[in-house]
Amino acid sequence: EKGGWDSFMDKEIHEDPAAVQRTLLGRLDKNGDLNLDEVRIEEHELKAIDKIIVVACGTAAYAGQVAKYAIEHWVRIPVEIELAHEFRYRDPILTPRTLVVAISQSGETMDTLMALRHAREQGSKVLAICNTQGASIPRESDAVLYTHAGPEVAVASTKAFVAQITAAYVLGLYLAQVKGAMFRDEIQATLDALKAMPRKIQWILDTQAATVRKAAEQLTDAKSFLFLGRHVGYPVAMEGALKLKEIAYTFTEGFAAGELKHGPIALVDEGEPVVFIVPPARGRNVLHAKVISGIEEVKARGAAIIAVAEEGDPDVERYADIVFWRPKCPTLMSPLVDVVPLQLFAMDMAKLKGYDVDKPRNLAKSVTVE
Ligand code: BG6
Repeated sequence: EKGGWDSFMDKEIHEDPAAVQRTLLGRLDKNGDLNLDEVRIEEHELKAIDKIIVVACGTAAYAGQVAKYAIEHWVRIPVEIELAHEFRYRDPILTPRTLVVAISQSGETMDTLMALRHAREQGSKVLAICNTQGASIPRESDAVLYTHAGPEVAVASTKAFVAQITAAYVLGLYLAQVKGAMFRDEIQATLDALKAMPRKIQWILDTQAATVRKAAEQLTDAKSFLFLGRHVGYPVAMEGALKLKEIAYTFTEGFAAGELKHGPIALVDEGEPVVFIVPPARGRNVLHAKVISGIEEVKARGAAIIAVAEEGDPDVERYADIVFWRPKCPTLMSPLVDVVPLQLFAMDMAKLKGYDVDKPRNLAKSVTVE
């Protein structure tokens, strides 16, 4: 069942490239137009959508947070992301022009299901991004976009995360097409960039796994970790922190890197491991410079710097103690590669500590109570 791997998590991380690839498969019809799986929403209603609210829990919520950056940039409508269990109890503003996007690997998470029911009762349309055919969440939604990651067995979500980002990006491009927010060739070029990602993820698996393993060996006994990122690197930092706490039972916090000076830097002491997601260095990327200055700040306080960064980034080479390299790719695509070494790192740490990586204590794969 594990296909030669010694855990499902191992197998599923190695299926990250295929999960992205399969989720992209068959999305274009013969006219070159993008298609979703099931859309029971009238075209004029879709055109009128003026706000998106993503509801989800755990890893799925971080996928939604990544998608916010891309969809707002492409479609030019506001995208909010909210934890499903918070959404329902705060009297959210929902209109027939709000599209609620429910993201769920299992399709059975009760918090997410209750949130989508609430949204529909208020007259909003709901689109599900789900990995399980015919589950409750897609069944109760107005439209469905399936992630084709294949069954995910390990409790900590890995391949579903990259598939969820991919699906949410397809949704963004679909809305851009319907609303005429992007030119056809821009949509095509973005899809091409997405299609190039499975190969780049594979490169990480092939070339960075040994470095990740060595880092885990060096850091096995670390008591806590900070994870920092900006822009799309922020939810990736949150997800990296979540993976490590879920399966290696290590105290972790994920922060927006810009927030460092407003509080978290107080935690930084000699030897504290701090993981930075560093944005692409090309051009005059202002985000890159900001993240590097964050690295300088914590380095000056004696932190151990672990960076996820673009191949050959000279600033990172100068400051980081350990680097997980990513191949060059556009900023909006970078979460699909950046999360992969963090998934491997959490798994290696948990294995080195002797824990069952597939069945972490106290957690369930699908939480069907509110
Ligand atoms: C949690 C799982 O309880 O539910 C997480 O342990 C998962 O891994 C979260 O991200 C949401 O699950 P789903 O199935 O709705 O994506």
